[in-house]
Amino acid sequence: MAYEFIEVRTEAGKVGVITLNRPKQLNALSNGLMDELGQALKAFDADEAIGCMILTGSEKAFAAGADIGAMASYTFADVYKGDYITRNWETIRSIRKPVIAAVSGFALGGGCELAMMCDFIIAADNAKFGQPEIKLGIIPGAGGTQRLPRAVGKAKAMDMALTGRMMDATEAERAGLVSRVVPFAKLMEETLGAALQICEYSQVAVLAAKESVNRSFESGLADGVMFERRMFHALFATEDQKEGMDAFVNKRKAQFKHR
Ligand code: CAA
Repeated sequence: MAYEFIEVRTEAGKVGVITLNRPKQLNALSNGLMDELGQALKAFDADEAIGCMILTGSEKAFAAGADIGAMASYTFADVYKGDYITRNWETIRSIRKPVIAAVSGFALGGGCELAMMCDFIIAADNAKFGQPEIKLGIIPGAGGTQRLPRAVGKAKAMDMALTGRMMDATEAERAGLVSRVVPFAKLMEETLGAALQICEYSQVAVLAAKESVNRSFESGLADGVMFERRMFHALFATEDQKEGMDAFVNKRKAQFKHR
């Protein structure tokens, strides 16, 4: 499938890599780009050979936000009737395999929100995160006011949403927005290493782990723990649980069959 605004490749036959590719606009997230991103994510999710996905941008920008040029003339009727954002930005939420964001440069507005919709973020040391929509007379519209406080707490989320300031990679790691920071030159190697590690494990357990962690954002503690407990119980019905534990007991490497 040929794409105009993204590049798609696989690594080691197991990791789907999607690179946002509107360099002149710092990967501003146009409708066309978001349509293509949704299609590519769904195709990798449906591909039996793929165990994990990576979403990345360029050295200068992961993505500098929604496309301001396109948005400038939108009216309320346009965005409401067209279901702007909901129509094609939230496809990523329905993806069941892990998606890692490898962020270098600017991740602003919708770019920061897109990174937060991924399962975790590995950042290059030059990464800059922000929700600067307030400077445009709007507010974050792709979940920033909800996911940012869950990641970094109310104080920093309010600071960023109200002042529009950026957070560098060091602050982002300290605050819990990103899981690791590495030099830019190592960003893809580190992220690919994490993705390949995930691919080694039972895909059934990987999906269950992702679903269970995500459940913690949707439910109270008792319901969340019950969800986890039932998932945990269910995994004892898999061949991979027998294989993983037998391999440990017999001091050999597990060969998971993803069933
Ligand atoms: N939309 C459209 N075009 C964008 C863009 C965006 N979000 N961000 C950058 N660009 C374009 C610029 O217009 C410029 O195009 P031209 O060369 O044709 O002038 C090109 O990308 C390079 O940008 P700059 O010259 O501005 O580069 P810089 O290095 O001086 O500054 C920057 C980089 C600080 C990221 C600056 O471009 C910037 O502030 N961008 C806008 C960031 C922003 O406000 N994002 C939020 C958008 S709203 C949103 O995302 C809503 C939502 O929640 C869904």
